[in-house]
Amino acid sequence: MWWERAVVYQVYPRSFQDSDGDGLGDLPGVGRRLDYIAGLGADAVWLSPFYPSPDHDFGYDVTDFRAVDPRFGTMRDFDELLEQAHGLGFKVLMDLVPCHTSIDHPWFRERPDFYFLRDMPKPPNNWRAAFGGPAWSRDPHGRGWYLHSFFPEQPDLDWRNPEVVAAMQDVIRFWLHRGVDGFRLDALDRLMKDPELRDDPPATGPPPLPLDPDHATLEHVHSRNAPDIDRGIAGLREAAGDHLLVGEVYLPTDQLGPYLRHLDLAFCFDLYHSRFEPEALRRAIDTAVASRRLAWVLSNHDFQRLPNRVGPENVALAALLLLTLPGCAFIYQGDELGLPDGPGDEVPLDRFGRDRFRHPMPWTDDEPNGGFTSGKPWLPVARAPRGSVQAQQRDPQSLLQTYRALIALRAELTGGEIAFDDASPDGVLAYRRGDHEIVLNISDTPVPAPEGQIVLATSPVRQAHSRMLPPRTGIVVGLG
Ligand code: NOJ
Repeated sequence: MWWERAVVYQVYPRSFQDSDGDGLGDLPGVGRRLDYIAGLGADAVWLSPFYPSPDHDFGYDVTDFRAVDPRFGTMRDFDELLEQAHGLGFKVLMDLVPCHTSIDHPWFRERPDFYFLRDMPKPPNNWRAAFGGPAWSRDPHGRGWYLHSFFPEQPDLDWRNPEVVAAMQDVIRFWLHRGVDGFRLDALDRLMKDPELRDDPPATGPPPLPLDPDHATLEHVHSRNAPDIDRGIAGLREAAGDHLLVGEVYLPTDQLGPYLRHLDLAFCFDLYHSRFEPEALRRAIDTAVASRRLAWVLSNHDFQRLPNRVGPENVALAALLLLTLPGCAFIYQGDELGLPDGPGDEVPLDRFGRDRFRHPMPWTDDEPNGGFTSGKPWLPVARAPRGSVQAQQRDPQSLLQTYRALIALRAELTGGEIAFDDASPDGVLAYRRGDHEIVLNISDTPVPAPEGQIVLATSPVRQAHSRMLPPRTGIVVGLG
């Protein structure tokens, strides 16, 4: 299958490239920059949502699943982008949001049976929302309480209603008919809940993956991840045929089995949130590699950017790791430049504090707003301490060039197996793939580098008989 070793580049359309000067990136803008993504060597793009939305959750609150928000362009722009992308050899993934709609979606008024509406004096249970606060709010149309796993403006759809499944299947078919190649499926662990809506018990320890502190006060045994979740996913699969389905399932690897029964891939959040040190990384990789169906990802629009999470000194190592593991890898726009978190806006736009991870791309040094827009950007253009795209394209030692070289190297890293080196020194993560050895020195002291032909290094390593790997440096060595 095409995705087995693919590199997927996540485009966050509102921050990629503006084409009409309104300060918001758009679909024609993405089209203008497709050559750049092609130059990086990616195989596919995942477009974060561009459906009509009142933006309470920046596109993840959808009012029409079959339309393009006019701020992003028209359906014709989308069709043209798809054609252009296919012409360049890219696959295109849509972001599908099956678990909830916007509170402004016509379904919410017209189809109360699509949602969890309960007319009773108190909320039906104690569930908390992922962004904090109760998961039940009063219905503005006077029908009692409704459930929302995220913001109150995002009422949950009831996937136990076959008509909901059928409606979402129609959405999938709509986009497949236009020619998309697959879907990134949003928040799948929320798709199905306990049919009796029983209370969640109090949490007994810290959550396995980072959560909002209020949300983390409960153990989410009933409010998500229902035991029969595979029935819901089967509905998505039925409509998708053999097109790619990548699940955003925010659960540890050992709980992904029922989801993977019908998905092609699920993101590996254990690795995403792992401490950047050898033992923790190895543990996260070991459990994931066995399934062969996890997509590697270290960054997206929801969490701190890589330099802030793993440390600026580890950013090139993170790229080396991400792109030398066997399987599909996702890159979030701007990671290839080493973009750090930005300041956000003076008045926060996202109520969950994620503006800082979503600043627009800095394309050039000489234009106002880095070439992102001729108008006023919706968020300030990202600061690029390592240089804009333009600067890094000219610099053979830049992080951007390291990403390119790593992606190009994937064609040679064909071994599907990964064998960790148990004898590596403290602070070092080393593994073999086929006839290549990959060594990450995640420490502040030089360590001996393996023998063999250096195929790639994240910083210069002297070729000598007894050579050393400098601190915070990664290397790929050919053993053949
Ligand atoms: C995951 C998305 O990536 C995030 O941005 C969004 O807020 C939630 N799902 C809810 O749709």
